[in-house]
Amino acid sequence: MSLRIRSTRLTVPQIVSRKGKDKIVCLTAYSAPMAALLDAHVDLLLVGDSVGMVVHGLPSTVGVTLEMMILHGKAVIRGSERALVVIDMPFGSYERSPAQAYDSAVKIMQETGCQAVKVEACEGIADTVAFLVKRGIPVVGHVGIRPQAVHTDGGFKTKGHTIDERQQILADARQVSDAGAFAIVVEGVVSELADEITRAVSIPTIGIGASSECDGQILVVDDMLGLFEWTPRFVRRYASLHTLIDESVAAYAMDVRNAVFPNSSETYAARKT
Ligand code: KIV
Repeated sequence: MSLRIRSTRLTVPQIVSRKGKDKIVCLTAYSAPMAALLDAHVDLLLVGDSVGMVVHGLPSTVGVTLEMMILHGKAVIRGSERALVVIDMPFGSYERSPAQAYDSAVKIMQETGCQAVKVEACEGIADTVAFLVKRGIPVVGHVGIRPQAVHTDGGFKTKGHTIDERQQILADARQVSDAGAFAIVVEGVVSELADEITRAVSIPTIGIGASSECDGQILVVDDMLGLFEWTPRFVRRYASLHTLIDESVAAYAMDVRNAVFPNSSETYAARKT
């Protein structure tokens, strides 16, 4: 008897083959219903550690744990069937050594069923990426603004304004690419630098606050849907859920207070026996 396992998801080689060709459409997702809504439209869903700030109200991504990523990762996998799903490795789960990164990545992949993990560029990251890739773990790198380094960087400031900074970020991107990553998120850098990185590496670049020349784009889904009153300059808001939710909940509250909700069509009458 032979068992044929079929997956309808996009694969890592399919994403890599889009370099310089069709743009790669990416969004973050943290829950099953949202993943189900996004799945038909995107190529890649990222369970970003931005979940800590967006869903859990944390001040940065530093407080996000492996358990949180796994919980949200499982939900996104359950809600989607077509997109490639990448899960962020949270702060503290991979920086100590390639072996630590391997253990964390295996746990994430085995418990969620995701296809790949993402790591931010930090000291020793090339060795870690190579270690993971050689052992069958597809890796996405992340350069430019590195949200997990918010405390050393002193905030989320756009990067690439000085020559030194440009050279450092370009070197980070080259290292991650040479080590075997299959894509790189380029976050919050001047557009000239994003263009230079895109030309310099052989793998797709996924921009956020970067440049339209990147091979793909990603946004935090709650930002592009306008769930918050304020969004950064690089976010294009395609909806204003903040206003929609505010108005809907105000209308609901009024109906409850005026005892006009529920009405007879929204309640159950006893059956006549
Ligand atoms: O955590 C996240 O959502 C990310 C994206 C902003 C790329 O890393």
